[in-house]
Amino acid sequence: MTDRQAPAIRAEDLRKEYGRKVAVRRLSLSVPVGTIFGFLGPNGAGKSTSIKMLLDLVRPTSGRATVLGAPAGDVETRRRIGFLPEHFRFYDWLTPPELLRLHGRLCGMSAVRLRERVPALLDLVGLTPHRDKRLWEFSKGMMQRAGLAQALVHEPDLVFLDEPTSGLDPMGRRLVRDIIRAERDRGATVFLNSHLLSEVEVTCDQVAFIRDGEIVASRDLRDDGSGRVGVVARVRNLSAHALAGLGAWTSDAALEGDELRFSVPSAIVLPDVLRHLVGAGADVSSFAPQRTSLEELFVRIVGEDRGL
Ligand SMILES: Nc1ncnc2c1ncn2[C@@H]1O[C@H](COP(=O)(O)OP(=O)(O)OP(=O)(O)O)[C@@H](O)[C@H]1O
Ligand SMILES: [Mg+2]
Repeated sequence: MTDRQAPAIRAEDLRKEYGRKVAVRRLSLSVPVGTIFGFLGPNGAGKSTSIKMLLDLVRPTSGRATVLGAPAGDVETRRRIGFLPEHFRFYDWLTPPELLRLHGRLCGMSAVRLRERVPALLDLVGLTPHRDKRLWEFSKGMMQRAGLAQALVHEPDLVFLDEPTSGLDPMGRRLVRDIIRAERDRGATVFLNSHLLSEVEVTCDQVAFIRDGEIVASRDLRDDGSGRVGVVARVRNLSAHALAGLGAWTSDAALEGDELRFSVPSAIVLPDVLRHLVGAGADVSSFAPQRTSLEELFVRIVGEDRGL
């Protein structure tokens, strides 16, 4: 039985010890259904171990987790979950369609459904031209694409992607981004481990930072209304009257040449500010809200002396 109202993932005080090594100290998180969740942290922070506990591939030393409303490891629920491991090994004598059919069948897909799904998926990940090759002939990036297709073959409700862009060229990275967005549009939940902060920044709805096996910060990237937002705009023909009018939203507007800088208490008011400027006859050629980049945040939270 699964509970439709339950978050896609809920972890309570998950802990994993390997002998005296504590890989994950205390992991508590809740990921709502339909969210793209980015899990960030330096090497060895416990990201992969956390995913493995949520999939019940690694038994927690203590703590509990429910995934899609069922206890982690529930076999029926496992069919609704996709997983791209960080280091994977497939039977490399298979061709990509054979690999996808194997994984599809393991998830209970019918041969009829697979006949449609497999070519579409190969197309999606750009492997159609290589469909007759054996996986042993694949480059790292091609293998990563095969792995991604494998994780998505059964249209899972929840997908765990552990460093999905590793080994991919810029086109491949864009592909991953597009695929993740398409997964969200389909209503799926995506749990993403990544080091590529700029990728996470444009893709994820929520992020959590893990350090030494513990979440040290989390952030909702959709809701920027929590703090002040700085704006840098390029504006010509801004009258003194229009500049003064910005006082309705901000008290720190400063114009230098054609560069206008100001901050507002919440991003919500930005459309009004822009309308005001344009309505007052100013020529606005750019209007850029400045957010603390995840990279800055990452370095601040995790510490500069540690490897990324
Ligand atoms: N099977 C294991 N036996 C012993 N220690 C382990 C094992 N798996 C992981 N660890 C240790 O647990 C810690 C967390 O490892 P984990 O693989 O979860 O990190 P990670 O955040 O995924 O790192 P990376 O960014 O390098 O992938 C590390 O110190 C690692 O050495
Ligand atoms: Mg890892």
